[in-house]
Amino acid sequence: MKLAFIGIGNVGFALANNLQKKGHEIIIAQNELKSESVLQAQTKNQALLAMPIQEAIDQSDIVFLATPFNFNEKILKPLDFGNKILVDCTNPVGPGISHGLESKISGAEKVQEWAKNARVVKSNTIYGFENLENSKFPNYNVKPVMMIAGNDQDPKEQVSLINTDLGFETLDVGDLSQSLHLEHMTLLWVKMVRANGHHPNFTWAYLER
Ligand SMILES: NC(=O)c1ccc[n+]([C@@H]2O[C@H](COP(=O)([O-])OP(=O)(O)OC[C@H]3O[C@@H](n4cnc5c(N)ncnc54)[C@H](OP(=O)(O)O)[C@@H]3O)[C@@H](O)[C@H]2O)c1
Repeated sequence: MKLAFIGIGNVGFALANNLQKKGHEIIIAQNELKSESVLQAQTKNQALLAMPIQEAIDQSDIVFLATPFNFNEKILKPLDFGNKILVDCTNPVGPGISHGLESKISGAEKVQEWAKNARVVKSNTIYGFENLENSKFPNYNVKPVMMIAGNDQDPKEQVSLINTDLGFETLDVGDLSQSLHLEHMTLLWVKMVRANGHHPNFTWAYLER
């Protein structure tokens, strides 16, 4: 598939790099084509193409959003997603690792509001980038789980296939409003690891009887 990435920092590069190695074609979608993160990404993986944002969206099958949440409104509003899937990997983070929208609405629902003609799926947010770089847990018989949320079934199925390529078992937790709870799970992970000293390579798993 052709996958575009708006934002190619810690999260964007980890996903793009692994998916390129799985055979996907990656387009970095940035208006600042010479920005530090674009140059670094292309130095580390020379197969990554880069082009202006709207052009990259038009040429891709699925678009990933991996930017600081505070920039999302400004980035997204001028764009038209033409019914493409937009995978929201961003998190609104407020002071003291609180929810950046005061838990009144999820960031993903705001992304849906700002991104014209996009079908938004929340994914790849519940862990730090370390587990997006490397999702392998060879000592366990279960895969790490990746929880996703979105309003339409078909986009969620396509995102699940991408998550399989990334080494995750996908768990569909419901419609896009469920993203608020995923964003709180992210805050839990971030607080545990970045503030309380838990190991950055820990993930959640889904066990069912
Ligand atoms: N870090 C984590 O462990 C983690 C895990 C899960 C989710 N997240 C979420 O994922 C998002 C990205 O985090 P990150 O750690 O990958 O950030 P990062 O390393 O700072 O990368 C941010 C990327 O966004 C780009 N960007 C910034 N402003 C932009 C704009 N106005 N237009 C287009 N691109 C712009 C940056 O490009 P430039 O080089 O031009 O600035 C860079 O490529 C955040 O919302 C974060 O909350 C982070």
